Amino acid sequence: MSEKILYDVKDLRLACEGKKRIDWAFREMPVLGILRKRESPKLFKNLVIGACLHITSETANLIICLRNCGAKVFLAASNPLSTQDDVAACLVKDYDVSVFGIRGETKEKYNEHIKQVALRKPHLIIDDGADLIAYLHNNPDFSINVIGATEETTTGVRRIKNIERQGKLLFPVIGVNNAQTKYLFDNRYGTGQSTIDGILRATNILIAGKTVVVCGYGWCGRGIAKNLKGMGARVIVTEVSPIRALEAVMDGFQVMKIEQAASTADIFITATGNARVISRSVFLKMKDGAIIANAGHFNVEIDVLTLEKISKKISEVKPLVKEFILTTGKKIYLLAEGRLVNLGCAEGHPSSVMDMSFACQFLSLKYFVSNNDIPIKYHDVPSEIDQEIALLKLTGMGVDIDKLTEFQKKYLDSWNFD
Ligand SMILES: NC(=O)c1ccc[n+]([C@@H]2O[C@H](COP(=O)([O-])OP(=O)(O)OC[C@H]3O[C@@H](n4cnc5c(N)ncnc54)[C@H](O)[C@@H]3O)[C@@H](O)[C@H]2O)c1
Repeated sequence: MSEKILYDVKDLRLACEGKKRIDWAFREMPVLGILRKRESPKLFKNLVIGACLHITSETANLIICLRNCGAKVFLAASNPLSTQDDVAACLVKDYDVSVFGIRGETKEKYNEHIKQVALRKPHLIIDDGADLIAYLHNNPDFSINVIGATEETTTGVRRIKNIERQGKLLFPVIGVNNAQTKYLFDNRYGTGQSTIDGILRATNILIAGKTVVVCGYGWCGRGIAKNLKGMGARVIVTEVSPIRALEAVMDGFQVMKIEQAASTADIFITATGNARVISRSVFLKMKDGAIIANAGHFNVEIDVLTLEKISKKISEVKPLVKEFILTTGKKIYLLAEGRLVNLGCAEGHPSSVMDMSFACQFLSLKYFVSNNDIPIKYHDVPSEIDQEIALLKLTGMGVDIDKLTEFQKKYLDSWNFD
């Protein structure tokens, strides 16, 4: 470790464990492995990258890849509960990366860590949830060098589009979340599996035979619902979009209002990107012993403040399992403080899906440094990048697919079949 590295991590002595975890994740990240070998060590030379991401072993592999291409990286946590302290230590000690993140940090510390990254006046930004991008927009002096930014998640993309709608966007942003190689896999299969992993690690309950309410049938919600069904749960979906609700019905789920579902379920999972999806009237109708967890980006989907207000006693009965005894005597259990349960109670998405999301991050940053005059607006990931990642992933999995013949290309491009 060079002496000048700035950082705030729990304990550098954890680095050795972190290294093992990072190497283990890399086994399942063949696309990032190809990019690591293929891309020039000068691609990001003299560039400062400011990142605000969950500090996990998969993120570490992305950061190492960026560093191998010449970037100087400053990394802050994108959630107070998601940092793997051993991984953070390893990035500092073994890779000279400036990391600011400690699992369980306070909201104040979390904001201070984001500020530490912004202070470096980065050239490129990688964000997950848009907290760093929002900070740069509220403190524009730190954004003067920004060439472009990428955003990892649905909620972050929505925030960026809101900034753009108000005419306040200061630099171009690519919405990595909206690439097909991201949301079709990361949100659906990644969240679908890791959310249940988080609930199981925290509670060790049997899913089979339980009634589970999944709020939101978007890319995350449908992955969660499908896996729960496969494990023998009776799944009820709640939605506000008629199209998504109809899809859920035709996928074989019961769909009803949350107020109606409230008294029937054993477990509630939110994945909407919205606020106060589960609030007072729903808490009051819940069964004794109901378990609540959130998979959406921010800890606003479950109205925890109100739950606290209507409780007479609150205690932690297991790590990250809080028991709320309501004034009526009923008990409700909240996982991971209402924050992302897959990162709070488990290890986040499997490396194999993050491989694609982070390859998309890497290639989107490459797009910014390889193209001039990119307009200051929101951009989708260029479709060539999406196609390339899918092909690389298939190659990594040893799967070969057919190619269009010249005859087929001509047929598909024609309209007059006589
Ligand atoms: N846990 C993770 O690791 C992880 C991974 C990816 C995305 N996310 C986050 O999960 C959230 C959902 O992402 P997505 O990609 O599924 O979004 P999405 O937009 O595809 O789906 C969200 C769904 O929720 C529905 N909804 C909104 N308000 C609702 C309400 N009050 N009641 C019921 N349904 C409601 C919407 O109609 C929509 O169908 C976002 O916050 C996203 O950032 C988390």
